[in-house]
Amino acid sequence: MRRNGSAGARPRWLAAQACRAVLDRGQALDEVLASLLDKVENARDRALVRRLANGVMRNWPALDFIVRELLERPMRSGDRVIFFLLTVAVHELRDAREPDHAVVHAAVAAAGDFRGGRLRGLVNAVLRNFQRRREALQKQVARDPVRDLGYPRWLIDHIDQDWPGEREGILAAGNAVPPLWLRVNRRCWTPQQALEALEAAGIQAMAMPDFPDALVLRERVRVSDLPGLAEGRLSVQDGAAQLVVDEMALEDGLRVLDACAAPGGKSAHILERADVDLTALDVSADRLIRVEKTLKRLGLDARLQCGDACRPRDWWDDRRFDRILVDAPCSATGVIRRHPDIRWLRRASDVDALIQTQRAMLNALWPLLAPGGILVYATCSVLVAENAGQFQSFLERHADACLIEHSELPGRPGDPGRQLLPGDQDCDGFFCAAARRLQPE
Ligand SMILES: C[S@@+](CC[C@H](N)C(=O)[O-])C[C@H]1O[C@@H](n2cnc3c(N)ncnc32)[C@H](O)[C@@H]1O
Repeated sequence: MRRNGSAGARPRWLAAQACRAVLDRGQALDEVLASLLDKVENARDRALVRRLANGVMRNWPALDFIVRELLERPMRSGDRVIFFLLTVAVHELRDAREPDHAVVHAAVAAAGDFRGGRLRGLVNAVLRNFQRRREALQKQVARDPVRDLGYPRWLIDHIDQDWPGEREGILAAGNAVPPLWLRVNRRCWTPQQALEALEAAGIQAMAMPDFPDALVLRERVRVSDLPGLAEGRLSVQDGAAQLVVDEMALEDGLRVLDACAAPGGKSAHILERADVDLTALDVSADRLIRVEKTLKRLGLDARLQCGDACRPRDWWDDRRFDRILVDAPCSATGVIRRHPDIRWLRRASDVDALIQTQRAMLNALWPLLAPGGILVYATCSVLVAENAGQFQSFLERHADACLIEHSELPGRPGDPGRQLLPGDQDCDGFFCAAARRLQPE
């Protein structure tokens, strides 16, 4: 599409399209952005589209409400992209990083090529109207928890029920912009060497005492600018996800199964820690390609296996594993700060289906563990039914499973397992629990 005059028009238009793809069509924001931004050369424009689309996701109920209030009549479905353009602009006006006149100008220009520009006047009028009614509208937003907090009702209620008194903190952490966590590849660098390399590149980072392989960056940097990334010395991985290997008590020579491996972050960490014989399993052949790429960049090797963790008879070679990691598909309610669209893409009914899958996976994989071996169960969820509730019921079903406590590791002691809530130690929300298989009597 040809864009006219205003340089800011194109990023606003793309942000509106991205929001529409997520909120009207149920597509994942990362995937939409990957394809929309493919042809955008200017890095600042790409960053702006991301920031605006993420901002709309975090504030969707308020923005949807405000734009509906400001429109005199509902917008025709064919003009829906203009509705999203208005939500992007209202978000920017509320966010106040740019002068109001620049935001209005860019939004009007962005509407310029749509249907011969006949909605430019409407965009201008709605945004001017917002400037006049801003205070009253903000008060209306603040009166409704869904609009004010920016989450769907079912999730607010679920978190209230699971974490009484912690709701505000969990939801606020989910709306914060996370720091960039790095994992240092122990086979190449110590964290100190990595710190020095980053400093030499003008990037300030800090080590994290409870996370032996991690560094945290507070400033925004382009990931591709990180020294050592292309050579496999560094990877991007949240601190919480890095805790899993410490639960696994890895040693050279063990036979290990990563049962839900893609895109390969934890498989890679396992192989950086020890010389193990690793099978990286995933049900998705497409996602296994990402594991292959991850391991190749790091110079690591695993047996890649496409298969359903709930149906081992389709892929298992009858040789038991010493360690099994079940990094299960889950609601991803712990990583909403990184993927703010998740709250609109997940439904309450998805959670019930995920709980059934997690349960089936644990049941199917436990017999594959050698006596004396360890199974580690992890999710990036904050919902008790997927976490401590799921693992407790697993322990009750398996008399030969003995819980391993890791009180020295970060996280709130769960019952059983350990839970990090979003923002705890600056991490994503995460759950992890481990059990040893007892030797037969
Ligand atoms: C939370 S992600 C795993 C992240 C990965 N462990 C990492 O650290 O990069 C969950 C993965 O489980 C996979 N998955 C979902 N259902 C599965 C099943 N029945 N069997 C095996 N893998 C499955 C998904 O394709 C997805 O890649």
